[in-house]
Amino acid sequence: MSNAFPKNSSTSASLPDKQPDNQPDNQPDNQSPNIHSPQPSAIRPAKIDWQMDDTGNQVPVSGEFGDVYFSHADGLAESRHVFSAHNQLPKRLTNLVPHQCFSIAELGLGTGLNLLATWQLWRELRDMHPHLATAKLHFITTEKHPIPLTDLTQILALWAQRAPELSVLTAQFLAAYPPLIAGCHRLNFLDDNLTVDMWFGDAADSLAKLALDTSLQPVPYIPTPYIDAWYLDGFAPSCNSTLWAENIFAQIQRLSYLGTTAATYSCAGIVKRALKDCGFEIKKVKGFGRKREMLTAIVPMPTDLTDVNNNAHDHANNRSADSVHTVIIGAGVSGLLTAWSLANRGIKVTLTDKSAPLAGASGNPRALLAPKMTPIHHVDEHLHSIGYLYSSRLYRQLNKEAAKQNTAPVLELTGALDLLIKANIGTEQIADYPDEMATTLSLAQAQETTGLKTQDLSENLYLPQSGLVNPQALKNIILTHPLIRFQQLDVSSINEMESCVRVEGSNQDKGAMTISADNVVICAAFESHKLDRRIFDCRKIRGQLSWFTPTAAELTNLPKVPLKYSGYCAAFTAQAGDNELNGVVEGAAHLLLGASFIRNDTSTDIRDEEHQISRDKLVTAIPEMESVIPADSSLWQGRAGVRTQTPDYHPIVGRLAQSQRTWVMSAMGAKGYALAPICAETLADMMLGSFAPLSAAMLARLSPNRIRLQTPLN
Ligand SMILES: Cc1cc2nc3c(=O)[nH]c(=O)nc-3n(C[C@H](O)[C@H](O)[C@H](O)COP(=O)(O)OP(=O)(O)OC[C@H]3O[C@@H](n4cnc5c(N)ncnc54)[C@H](O)[C@@H]3O)c2cc1C
Ligand SMILES: C[S@@+](CC[C@H](N)C(=O)[O-])C[C@H]1O[C@@H](n2cnc3c(N)ncnc32)[C@H](O)[C@@H]1O
Repeated sequence: MSNAFPKNSSTSASLPDKQPDNQPDNQPDNQSPNIHSPQPSAIRPAKIDWQMDDTGNQVPVSGEFGDVYFSHADGLAESRHVFSAHNQLPKRLTNLVPHQCFSIAELGLGTGLNLLATWQLWRELRDMHPHLATAKLHFITTEKHPIPLTDLTQILALWAQRAPELSVLTAQFLAAYPPLIAGCHRLNFLDDNLTVDMWFGDAADSLAKLALDTSLQPVPYIPTPYIDAWYLDGFAPSCNSTLWAENIFAQIQRLSYLGTTAATYSCAGIVKRALKDCGFEIKKVKGFGRKREMLTAIVPMPTDLTDVNNNAHDHANNRSADSVHTVIIGAGVSGLLTAWSLANRGIKVTLTDKSAPLAGASGNPRALLAPKMTPIHHVDEHLHSIGYLYSSRLYRQLNKEAAKQNTAPVLELTGALDLLIKANIGTEQIADYPDEMATTLSLAQAQETTGLKTQDLSENLYLPQSGLVNPQALKNIILTHPLIRFQQLDVSSINEMESCVRVEGSNQDKGAMTISADNVVICAAFESHKLDRRIFDCRKIRGQLSWFTPTAAELTNLPKVPLKYSGYCAAFTAQAGDNELNGVVEGAAHLLLGASFIRNDTSTDIRDEEHQISRDKLVTAIPEMESVIPADSSLWQGRAGVRTQTPDYHPIVGRLAQSQRTWVMSAMGAKGYALAPICAETLADMMLGSFAPLSAAMLARLSPNRIRLQTPLN
């Protein structure tokens, strides 16, 4: 490894907690930042103007920079020439070995044309070369002024006529396009083994957040991530200096390695000098169309490894055979989603639970997917917001899978209305958000949406991407993955050895059983510390969810969408298979009422007084429900579980100190269905040495070894 490219850790295990991310809904958010400070991370969307090009086509122009997004001649052909061909992608991607991940970083997502062109090339190569079936493409892109979806749809429609081969990909890209919120948005296109991380915000800030070393002690078999190819695609340096600035090149240097390449249409002196200064060898080559020249660059290999096409350096970014089998302990939402993220990276998973999948807190009839909100200037570092948006996208993607398998949907996209009784955000701050993430409904709309008649709904938070997750449906889809096998096992001990880890326990039919694997991930919630004493013994908060079958008359007066107040309520119709987990009547409507919060209580008996607690929360918040919700709860059903929580409210995600093969993902608090999916992606990236979708600072806040977790609870 060259001295010019030191792989220093950018994480610190002792960063102060910026914000409590994991509080139960009934706790005051007393660590909230000052909500009236300036808004550095609020996103200003692109303003699109239009110009006629040489051939009579309309082309989009940036209102901010006054430059065109792509070539007047043929943007797609230029993208292929400059970025694909001159980063030698056809050859380098073809040469990937099974499970290998190739990372591209782009400066300036713009219209997504480079991404679409690269995606299409990747698809073609995968079709032609079966050995690429398990290889992966990770496209990391940055954008300060993302284009609003309506403009983007119009822009990309141009290419539908000019390049019909892009149209299938364009439709998928537009369907996954996130709300214009600062921070990282991960989009997984599983059929193509393509992960796209869109970092909205200034590129220098975003690149600085990419973590190279995600743990305290590097482990030889986990490679350090780095960028294989750079697309330097800012507007002309004369009108877009921030994308060609010193702090950008400092990041390019930090994130590159031997054999990393870069390409740009620009041959400006500052670009050439900056690339040379950060260790690239540069070469001028013929530019696209009428452009005389463009730049291509490479971090040179030592003389005996000069051919980048050999991928000789890629040992450092290669999936090691050491990580091919993982045992996960605990099959709640944390274990299930970790299994899903690993299996989608080609890792074989044995998912265990002492009783059955969803036996713990995750097994409610439905979970409400809703974020804890934060003022928008903190959103880029707010795990709840990032996690919620990712979860909503993932569950909707899984709905398509469920439709193919003719099973119940994973997410019923109902939307949800928060009455702002316990929220840490007011309507002024909600107005800063794009409507597709969060908005305030007018009184008339709120009444229409909820069906409530006398409630004061003038202040509210409406969450269009919220809905009800069906845990049983989620579990069914995850367990059909060919690389995931469920094994009932009450794990009693974990023995980590140099070359493997041995997980020992007892199976209800076969007795003592041992499973050997390359890694183990402990997802045993509040019991995790019993399996490894290095894991913090968390706060345990019992909760009971209640439900009953309303009469036809009651049903007509129930709220029409899930509501949040100091608790939450939601109507749902039980689907086929729901009664495997809970006492519900298939095809019948039910009203869920949640939930109690009882500290230091881990018993899971059903208590009438806790039914009443949830009923009281509802009728206190919405008095008109007093006459609708029966006072007699003797026929109600319930399920009690234990929430697991750290003192700083952040989950625990990462590798244990002094360990090579033992990982943990736990402490999801009251929001496991919003947090587990993004935490699972992060953990899988850490395990395989890829760039995570969370900032280095956030990874430090989630670390199992952080300072806040060194002092036991008293
Ligand atoms: C009443 C209530 C309502 C909630 N409502 C919501 C909601 O609406 N939305 C939301 O997002 N979140 C909600 N939550 C929070 C959410 O349920 C949790 O955050 C989530 O379930 C945590 O998932 P987990 O997989 O980490 O833990 P769990 O689901 O508890 O899973 C841990 C698993 O580990 C297994 N295990 C433990 N020890 C061993 C061992 N030695 N060997 C093998 N297996 C072991 C257990 O059997 C268990 O299945 C609610 C929680 C409660 C209690
Ligand atoms: C030439 S366009 C990129 C075109 C794009 N690659 C495509 O395929 O359409 C340059 C992009 O960089 C963005 N940009 C400019 N300055 C930026 C900065 N400092 N950080 C992040 N993005 C920036 C612009 O908003 C614009 O979308």
